[in-house]
Amino acid sequence: MRTFFAFLLLAPTWSLAQTGSPVSVAPAWYDDPMTQFYLLAGSLLVVALVVLLVAVVMLHVINVLAHLEAKRKAEERGEVYRPAPSFWSRFWQSANEFVPVEKEKDILLDHNYDGIRELDNHLPPWWKWLFYGTIAFSLVYLIVYHVTLTLPSSEQEYQAQVAEAEEQIKIFRAKNPVDENTVTLLTDAAALAEGQQLFQANCASCHLADGGGDIGPNLTDKFWIHGGGIKEVFTIVKNGVPGTNMVAWGQVLSPQNIQSVSSYVLSLQGTTPVKAKAPQGTLYPPDSTQTQTDTLNVQTLLR
Ligand code: HEC
Repeated sequence: MRTFFAFLLLAPTWSLAQTGSPVSVAPAWYDDPMTQFYLLAGSLLVVALVVLLVAVVMLHVINVLAHLEAKRKAEERGEVYRPAPSFWSRFWQSANEFVPVEKEKDILLDHNYDGIRELDNHLPPWWKWLFYGTIAFSLVYLIVYHVTLTLPSSEQEYQAQVAEAEEQIKIFRAKNPVDENTVTLLTDAAALAEGQQLFQANCASCHLADGGGDIGPNLTDKFWIHGGGIKEVFTIVKNGVPGTNMVAWGQVLSPQNIQSVSSYVLSLQGTTPVKAKAPQGTLYPPDSTQTQTDTLNVQTLLR
């Protein structure tokens, strides 16, 4: 047993001893400082529990011996041995305040229904204190969550998590710049809002604010000169169409910006512009039906 605990306690130090050696034998999870902390804390907890258990057993043995001795002495004196109530039985009594059977007549109520009578027992103290505890808790809860607003509400916690996730998406996108081959259709509100802003600033002069088309083609219909998938749109926006007014925006906008403005352009599919320019190009995808926007998104996802 002792060797086993020594083993548990020493385990976290292995990797320390090994840092100098060229080949680390410990698996990766083992090198994680948190794992080592949990191992150490866990083994200490086990040791503490065992010590506690041994102490309780010892205490019990001492108790039994003391009772035996007291009983022996009482018998020597010719008295009947009556042990004092133990700590637990006193605790149990004060938590419940049981009324002994011989005192029940004191709390018997007057009424008598065909021999059925009622005792006027108090609520047990443990129940009352639990009840007062919930009142105190609700007061603290009310003040902290609704008066001083010290702790965040569920909604604020949710918002914080969403903000954190959006931050991570931003970092991820910054680390993984998109190009024609890796571009995906963005559908989250933040990206589309950014795309809309870019569109109004750079593209609305030729395609109109609602994408209805003027110098440039109508971007809301199902007809495309260069194809209406996210990869095609991204490529056209990035490289432009030489010899036309559609310039290469890759010189001006970052790949992320082109991705969001292209995603925004595709989100215009199926909307009704104020002044729609006549369709140019061919139907995209060629076999598209009325539900083109859906097919388009699925196709983009499958790519
Ligand atoms: C100066 C005018 C002008 C501006 C500004 C402009 N475009 Fe264009 N755009 C055009 C023209 C003209 C065409 C048609 C090119 C052709 O004939 O192939 C076009 C084509 C396109 C196409 C391809 C349409 C198709 O049917 O295949 C897309 C997508 C597009 N533009 C998106 C954008 C976006 C996004 C912006 C802003 C970043 C933008 N355009 C800014 C003039 C413009």
